[in-house]
Amino acid sequence: MRITVFAPAKLNLYLKVLGRRPDGFHALDSLFHVIGLADTLTIEERPAGVDFSCSNPALAGPDNLAARAAAIMIREAGGGGVRLHLDKRIPAGAGLGGGSSDAAAVLTGLNRLWRLGLAPERLAALGAELGSDVPFFVYGGCARVTGRGEVIQPLTDPLDGWCVLIHPGCHLDTGRVFRAWAAETGGHVLTEGLPEPIITTADATCRDRAWAELGNDLQGAACRLAPEIGLALDALRKAGGARARMSGSGSAVFCITADHASAAAIGQRLQVPDRWRVWVVPLVCDPALSGEPTAGQACDHWGVDKR
Ligand code: C5P
Repeated sequence: MRITVFAPAKLNLYLKVLGRRPDGFHALDSLFHVIGLADTLTIEERPAGVDFSCSNPALAGPDNLAARAAAIMIREAGGGGVRLHLDKRIPAGAGLGGGSSDAAAVLTGLNRLWRLGLAPERLAALGAELGSDVPFFVYGGCARVTGRGEVIQPLTDPLDGWCVLIHPGCHLDTGRVFRAWAAETGGHVLTEGLPEPIITTADATCRDRAWAELGNDLQGAACRLAPEIGLALDALRKAGGARARMSGSGSAVFCITADHASAAAIGQRLQVPDRWRVWVVPLVCDPALSGEPTAGQACDHWGVDKR
């Protein structure tokens, strides 16, 4: 048996860093949203072990989160084996959650292939063993995410629009960006619970206010580590991108428009170096997206890689 699953990228529409936790991770409050740019995974049964390959040889080692997710599912299933091939489109070290999404797609894909019947909560807990962003991708769609990334509140009313996305060529290590943020802000350690949540309901007004008023707390530190990020934000704003901001810990930046024509016009006006990559893609709103081939095929259809 063999299946093909699609692993979408995400954007952080806002990202507040609430403080450093005693375990060294940072407490976050963020709005995550999947987009129509996706990796593709082919998952095939084999008698035992994990055989992993990747279109990018630099990411093909056994440490890849997708291979580690497969090993976890073999453990959960009490045996079995899998051959995985990962076709990468989402740039790594870009704050788009590509590796985490690949891992979640393996967890949900094998759960389906092997009819294990594990609940999303269990898959998310398994995903949290692999990385802070994995639990979100088990659900997909749009969600408020808190804790270190493992507390997911899906929002029933995702944004409907298009996104212009720039990857300015550089790759940032998440831990390094958080450490830079902590060094610059004093990064106080949280000892008594969390500050009040920023989004409390799943309603669109609350979500839109948060999107309008809040930015990405890691953006300043990331721009100092990689000045290309600031240049990419300037380029997006000059081309007419309102509320341009960075996703996650960088280095990708984005803006959102109401429709395809406005996003395509910004994409056309953009003046960026040839080695940067630009995509014009829809915000994909289906919470069942993670791992579903139909949505991924739609991504292929919608995704416009300008270069
Ligand atoms: O969980 P993940 O492997 O994605 O995290 C990579 C690094 O980013 C962690 O080792 C940690 O330094 C930092 N991080 C953090 N707080 C978070 C998520 C990640 O400090 N909520």
